[in-house]
Amino acid sequence: MKVIIRNNASEGSLWAAHYIAGQINAKAAVTAEPFVLGLCTGSTPIETYAELIRMVKAGEVSFRNVISFNMDEYVGLPESHPESYHSFMHKYLFDHIDEKPENIHILDGNAADPVAECAAYEKAIAEAGGFDLFLGGVGEDGHIAFNEPFSSLESRTRVVTLTRDTREVNARFFGGDYNKVPRQALTVGVATVLSAKEVVILAFGSKKAAALKDAIEGPLSHYCTLSGLQTHPAGTIVCDELSVGELKVNSYRYFKAVEEAETK
Ligand code: GLP
Repeated sequence: MKVIIRNNASEGSLWAAHYIAGQINAKAAVTAEPFVLGLCTGSTPIETYAELIRMVKAGEVSFRNVISFNMDEYVGLPESHPESYHSFMHKYLFDHIDEKPENIHILDGNAADPVAECAAYEKAIAEAGGFDLFLGGVGEDGHIAFNEPFSSLESRTRVVTLTRDTREVNARFFGGDYNKVPRQALTVGVATVLSAKEVVILAFGSKKAAALKDAIEGPLSHYCTLSGLQTHPAGTIVCDELSVGELKVNSYRYFKAVEEAETK
């Protein structure tokens, strides 16, 4: 696992955007095959998406040959609801880039048969060739996508029940009332994320410090589903000084030293 530590969230977001664009461009230089990208929601990726939009407009990267699959969606929230992940993605990314609408995939939280919807999603990911890169965030309790604590690290796309903690954290988007936050979601599984050739996780701010400590220094455990990244051959956490505040000093120095040595 690599941990890229930047001074603040803005610097981390720029790093991530440039990294993702670089990977899209690198694949485009050698093959006409599409780049398959996993995407996340939440407040964390907004600046990364803003930089990707700027890069598309500046001609520095194109999403014309990108196929994307989002991580998750609330169950029962209309797609047009301002807090649906459909709305979020269009507002903060898709409406401003050149990705083809038919290449955008987001789980349908209103599907008549949610189990079939989840199975079809896994099938579509496989048919697209699997993920080149999955971009994710992390919840305060260490969850990745909506894989709450004690989700199997072998989990695949499925219906999940959200914890009270997650609903309370996300209540800020629903007028502060956790009762308005849907009780269930559809989410890719931990194993779905880890099936990507590469996983990049964004984590900024002191509220993520405990989750990063568990994920990076703690044991591999379904208690902190992000810890599954420890088994991935190409996992990177992009964070800021605040979010690594609970790491051991020696861990912090190790990651800084590795990055310094690799960029010299
Ligand atoms: C939700 C999403 C996660 C996201 C998390 C953190 O739970 N399902 O994918 O990582 O929120 O959100 P934020 O970036 O707002 O802290």
